[in-house]
Amino acid sequence: MISGQTGIFALGDAAHGFFEFALREGAAGADLIRAVANVRVPHTTVGGANAVVGFRPELWRSSAPIPADVHGFNEPVSGRDGFTMPATQADAFVWFAAADYDWVFDLGIATVTKLAPLATLARENSGWSYRHNRDLTGFEDGTENPTLYEAPGITLIENGSPGAGGSILLFQQWRHDTRSWVALGDARQEQVIGRTKPDSIEFPEATMPADSHVSRTTLEIGGVELDIFRRNVPYGNVSDHGTLFIGFAAEQRRLHDMLIQMAGADGGPRDALTRYTTPLTGAYYFCPSVNALAAFVTDTG
Ligand code: HEM
Repeated sequence: MISGQTGIFALGDAAHGFFEFALREGAAGADLIRAVANVRVPHTTVGGANAVVGFRPELWRSSAPIPADVHGFNEPVSGRDGFTMPATQADAFVWFAAADYDWVFDLGIATVTKLAPLATLARENSGWSYRHNRDLTGFEDGTENPTLYEAPGITLIENGSPGAGGSILLFQQWRHDTRSWVALGDARQEQVIGRTKPDSIEFPEATMPADSHVSRTTLEIGGVELDIFRRNVPYGNVSDHGTLFIGFAAEQRRLHDMLIQMAGADGGPRDALTRYTTPLTGAYYFCPSVNALAAFVTDTG
C-alpha cells in the first residue's frame, strides 16, 4: 500500500517549526534527499512529534518519479496595482509539529546540525496555535477544508501515477498589517473574508463581494469546485506577525491558480485580503510518499 506522509494529516498540534534548506555548492542533491529521508521523529506513548518533509520538485525529479508538470516557485506571481508574491524557493523543507515547542526545538537543532555538511538553513519559521483554529485576523481558518476522510483524495497523487502518494505543498509567509486590519472594524473585515467573524458562516451568493478572499480562492472548472487541504498556522510576536500558509494538493495547478486569482492576474479583482497582509516568501515542495522516501532510508535503527 502506498501511504502519504502522516504529518500532513496530523491535526491538533500547538507548536510548529518550519525549516527550509539550501543545498551547499558542490553537494549532491541525492545526498540531501538521503539525509532528509533519514530524519526521524519519536512516536511513543510518552511523547513525540509529527514531521513532513519535502523537496524542490526539480531536485526530487533528478532522483525519483514526480509528475512532469510539477515545478518550484521559480518566478514571482504578479498581479494588479504592482502586487507581487515573491519567489523564495529553497531545496528542502522540514516541518516539525508537536504539543509543546520543546520537541520542535530539539528536533530542529538536531536536524540543522545533521544536514549542515550538505545544506545551509535558508529560513526558519516557528508557528503556534491561536484560539485553537483562528488566524491572527481573528477569523476561523479552515472552515471550508475537506474532512480527514476526504483530505487524502484531494492531497495525494493517485496510485499508478508518477509520484503516487506524494503531495505538492505551497508554503508562504504572510505578514499582517494588523493596525489597518483592526481599523476596518468587524463588519468590513467580514466583507474582506466573505464569512462572518464569530461563527464563520459564508455569505450567500447574492451578498458575497467579488473581491472577498472566499470568492478569489474558490476554484471552479466546469462547474466542479476544486479543493486543496490547508494547515495554516499563525506566527510571530506582537509587533511582527501573520500567517504561515501551508496548502497541500495532488495537483499543483490548483494552488497556483488560487494565487493567480488572489493577485487578480486572471482578469478578476485582486483579493481584498491582500491589502492587509503581504506575502514575504513563497515556495513549492514535493512531499513524497512514505514508500518513496523509504528507498532513501539508510538509518534503520
Ligand atoms: C494571509 C494569508 C491567508 C489568510 C489569513 C487566510 C485566511 C482564510 C480564511 C479566514 C478563510 C475562511 C474560512 C475557511 O474556509 O478556512 C479562508 C478560506 C480559504 N482560503 Fe485562505 N487565507 C490566506 C491565504 C490563502 C492562500 C495563499 C490560499 C491559496 C493558495 C488560500 C486558500 C483558501 C481557500 C481555498 C479557502 C476556502 C474558500 C471556500 O470557501 O471555498 N488562502 N482563508
